[in-house]
Amino acid sequence: MDTFLQEIPKAELHIHIEGSLEPEMMFTLAKRNGIELPYKSVQEVRDAYNFQNLQSFLDLYYAGMGVLQTQQDFYDLTWAYLQTAAAENVQHTEIFFDPQAHTSRGIEFEIVHAGIYQALQDAQEEFGISSYLILCFLRHLSAESAMATLEQALPYKDTIVAVGLDSSEMGNPPSKFKRVFDRAREAGFYTVAHAGEEGPPDYIWEAIKLLGVSRIDHGVRCIEDSQLVKYLIEQQIPLTVCPLSNIKLCVFDSMEKHNIKQLLHMGLCVTVNSDDPSYFGGYIAENLQQIQAALGLSQQDIYQMMKNSFQATFLSPEEKQAKI
Ligand code: ADE
Ligand code: ZN
Repeated sequence: MDTFLQEIPKAELHIHIEGSLEPEMMFTLAKRNGIELPYKSVQEVRDAYNFQNLQSFLDLYYAGMGVLQTQQDFYDLTWAYLQTAAAENVQHTEIFFDPQAHTSRGIEFEIVHAGIYQALQDAQEEFGISSYLILCFLRHLSAESAMATLEQALPYKDTIVAVGLDSSEMGNPPSKFKRVFDRAREAGFYTVAHAGEEGPPDYIWEAIKLLGVSRIDHGVRCIEDSQLVKYLIEQQIPLTVCPLSNIKLCVFDSMEKHNIKQLLHMGLCVTVNSDDPSYFGGYIAENLQQIQAALGLSQQDIYQMMKNSFQATFLSPEEKQAKI
């Protein structure tokens, strides 16, 4: 089974590139950029990764990315993720980046974008991994700030497939960003949003009805609303589920209690993803191994979720067909 999970062709749809910053690279970049970290060792960093909820993670996540300063730093970060992805037979990946987390510290959008995008292009050459970039708005910031970020992204439209919504969910409903998402769709972007990770099923409804999303990121709390579950099944709106993340952020008490198998068997378009692999203890193959072991998933279950992932990408129907 382990070899099967390692080798099966995969598509990843929910990975925050800044969340793939491993502690080793954090130290390398801190040294390169003359930044002092509040940790003495890699082990000390890992020991700090004990979260009570989403916010306690986000505080460390935003602090950690302070070491990312130059175009080369963003390139190295992205390249390291792509090397791991290639080793796990990820054939296509759609990665999130958080420009406001960098522009707010004086790093230009252009620097962030150029570093990440160059690595994606090189990975297509070197590993044959195809990819898309998704710009996420930080929902704890204002709708005006999101709108300004969207305007900044318009010159890069050809290299960004979609916009998304992440960061602190509770108290920041999708409705706050309706105008921004209207504008993004007018400009030709697809849309996605984190919803139903910590937030209620109503946030999932809002993401669908007000933001016009093609996929829901996380979405595991949909189970609390039977009408919503019915709708997600009928419309086959994909959920990008991140099991290790959900355990680390205490959305479920243990992997045995995760609802991914239940959702899959009910007929939802469930996919498996890593979210912030450096912070949550593993990349996509580790997520598969842990849900398989805890929930007793069959090879057929795994195959169905991998097929769902390719189906849920922003690739054209012909490109999907070629990959499935
Ligand atoms: N940003 C990075 N990871 C996130 C998550 N799991 N939820 C919301 N925002 C995030
Ligand atoms: Zn996420």
